[in-house]
Amino acid sequence: MNLNGKIAFISGASAGIGKAIAETFAEAGANLILSARRIDKLKVLAEDLHSKFGTETQLIELDVRNFDKVEAAIKNLRSAWANIDILVNNAGKAKGLDKIQGGLLSDWEEMIDTNVKGLLYLSRLILPGMVERASGHVVNIGSIAGLEVYPSGNVYCASKFAVHAISKGMVIDLNGTGVKVTNIAPGLVETEFAEVRFDGDKSRAEKVYQGYKPLEAQDIADIALFAVTRKHHVQIQDILVTPLDQATATIVNKKQ
Ligand SMILES: NC(=O)c1ccc[n+]([C@@H]2O[C@H](COP(=O)([O-])OP(=O)(O)OC[C@H]3O[C@@H](n4cnc5c(N)ncnc54)[C@H](OP(=O)(O)O)[C@@H]3O)[C@@H](O)[C@H]2O)c1
Repeated sequence: MNLNGKIAFISGASAGIGKAIAETFAEAGANLILSARRIDKLKVLAEDLHSKFGTETQLIELDVRNFDKVEAAIKNLRSAWANIDILVNNAGKAKGLDKIQGGLLSDWEEMIDTNVKGLLYLSRLILPGMVERASGHVVNIGSIAGLEVYPSGNVYCASKFAVHAISKGMVIDLNGTGVKVTNIAPGLVETEFAEVRFDGDKSRAEKVYQGYKPLEAQDIADIALFAVTRKHHVQIQDILVTPLDQATATIVNKKQ
């Protein structure tokens, strides 16, 4: 499973699943374009990857919600970095866990703008080059929340249902172009996700991952690496992965 000579663009590489994918792809030999808003975290990661694996990186301080910035970032890539082989649309989040009748508009906008529009912006800018080269792979990070709606999940679930629909749309529209699409739908993964959802409330966030063994970001990175290293004729379209103790979005075998 090697990615020697490949260029991968990863959104949301400063933490969690995106960071683990960066580390895993770097170890497999890829060079990386890493983007997120927290550039300081990307710098530390890039230095680490360079010293461990000799990875070359381009770092982009980027809020995927801003189309003009996303467009400038992609258009300004130097020619050596312009031919992106793998796009990992990972940047995303849940904000809040409120019933729809009491939801915060700002939470809804942040989720829809990041999870759906950010993914679309990057894809719209990077896919034409892949199609032109008849080669490339898009990995979208969906969620079990894109397959099932859970109580108070309303808009987060809607944003992830949209990701799943967009992934399917990509598979259909890119059919015959040589470009592959993989949608990965994780269940509970222990990252900064719950802390972000609950606005930095660490004790509330910790409870999400207590009483069972959640997935680790590395588990998702292993799957992403597997998906992007299959033979040319193999396209893994969809993967649902949960911890052993998770049956559905809401059924989790938690010990007291
Ligand atoms: N953890 C789970 O249980 C779980 C389950 C299913 C799916 N997912 C999905 O997995 C993906 C990664 O989440 P995670 O669990 O790794 O969470 P995380 O640890 O909070 O990481 C989220 C990443 O997204 C980036 N990000 C957030 N808003 C952004 C924006 N506006 N522009 C650019 N980057 C942004 C963050 O970087 P900055 O803050 O530096 O910008 C960070 O690198 C998300 O799409 C999430 O919905 C997570």
